[in-house]
Order: sequence, then C-alpha cells, then structure tokens
Amino acid sequence: AYEDYWNMAEWLLCCIKYQPQEPVICGSGFGGLADKLTQPQVFDYSEIPSFPQSTAPGHAVRLVFGILNGRVCVLMQVPCQYLLWKVTFLVRVFQLIGVDTLVVTNAAGGLRPRVEVGDIMLICDHINLTGFCGQNPLTGPHGERFGVFALCDPRDQTMRQKALSAWKEGTCVMLTGPNFETAGCRLLQKWGADAVGMSTVPEVTAAQPCGLRVFSFSLITNKVVMDHKSLEKTNHREALEAGKQAAQKLDACHHSCHQHSPPWQCPL
Ligand code: HPA
Repeated sequence: AYEDYWNMAEWLLCCIKYQPQEPVICGSGFGGLADKLTQPQVFDYSEIPSFPQSTAPGHAVRLVFGILNGRVCVLMQVPCQYLLWKVTFLVRVFQLIGVDTLVVTNAAGGLRPRVEVGDIMLICDHINLTGFCGQNPLTGPHGERFGVFALCDPRDQTMRQKALSAWKEGTCVMLTGPNFETAGCRLLQKWGADAVGMSTVPEVTAAQPCGLRVFSFSLITNKVVMDHKSLEKTNHREALEAGKQAAQKLDACHHSCHQHSPPWQCPL
C-alpha cells in the first residue's frame, strides 16, 4: 500500500542528516565506493522498520548516506537473490524521499572478446530475461502515483554521452543466479548480449516509471565460461576480487574528469 512506502520514507527522512539526490545501487565489487563518502551515516537493514530483509547469508546489507563530490547520495547493496518486489519497493521509497537520479551497477561476466575483465561497461540497453518468464519487478499492486509503464529507453541520454568518452558500452542481460551458466550463455551471446549479470534490470525497470534519471554500468569481473568441458570455472570469490580491481578503475576515471567526479556527475 502507498502508506507502507510513505512510512519507510518518513522514517528515513527523520533519521538522515541530508536528503540524498542520488542513490547508487551497487552489486558486488562496487561497495568500496562507500568508503569514499564523507559524513557517512550507516544503517543496517535490520534496524530500519519494515525494510525488506535479505535471506542470502554473508551479503553486506547496509544503507550508507553521505556526500560524494558535493552531491548527497545513498549507497545500497542489493543482496543476491533479493526478491524483485523488494527492489521495486526500495526504488519507489527513494523517489518519495526526493532523489532525482538512480545509478545502478552490477558485477557481470563478459560474453564477447571486446568486453574484458576489469572493464567498466556502460549499459546502453538490457535484456529482461527474467521478465520473459513472468518475473517482472512491476507486476503486483501498482498505483498511478508511481507512474505509467513505458520502458522503451529507460536510461538518461545526457549522462550516457558523458560517460561514453571514458567507457565502452554494451547490452547486459540478467539471470537470477546464484549459480553461473555455461551453454545457456552461448544463447545469451547469440541474442545480442555483451555481458551477463544477476541484477540491475529490476532496479532500472522500477525506476523509469517513477521518473528517475537512470544511469547503469557493469564491472566486468570474469569472462563467461561457455563450455562445460573447460577447465576454467567461474566462481564468486574471483568475481569479487576482479570487481575490486574494476572499482579502482572507476577511481582512475574520476581523476580523468574535471572535479574528480565519477562520469555520471561530470560536466560535459
Ligand atoms: N554470469 C552471471 N553473473 C555474473 C557473472 C557471470 O559470469 N559474473 C559476475 N556476475
């Protein structure tokens, strides 16, 4: 119900020092950005009343409010296997607390030679594969207050142009995981995906009807292993390690921009 969204939004607004303009929803590997926030205010999901909890063990479940390059933002890590309605709920709460921009990141496996480990890939489009199977974050109760559905091009073109000078771009497809795939990924490649991850699509899908500006990118943590006979195996630990390195690359990107800002905050 709309009141549930409001209850959480009001709770957050009462507790936070500054109202964020920009939530950054991050997948594995990008959590280090939280250390860069000044004047941080940290909330464990368990201490926020009615906050959707994660059932996946060992995942960072914190909301960190703070300042990044002069812009107030909130960083949240969406745990693996988080149910889609929970993602939608949080994105809508962010809209209610007054944010204008949503930045969404994931760790992803490269499906093509041009997408290399350590790359940051701007997501120019996505394949909502879980949506093909009836798992869409917008199914369920929906009031017009959260906008109308029209997901032709959910991403903000101005922000995309800014980032293009620093990063390559591509199409990302989402699988729910938590396991990695082999032969299935050959299919994804044929369908036109450049990278495969386990998040970002629900966040972007939920944000667009709310009128948020959306910017999303992948940290390429591994090359997808597509042959079951291959001796190489993808695992989460290596993906996390590569994710950390890619996060450093994001840092290098800040420094090539004016004002040391990440590309989505850089002036043209
Ligand atoms: N497949 C799916 N999700 C991923 C991968 C992958 O290879 N790497 C990081 N997230």
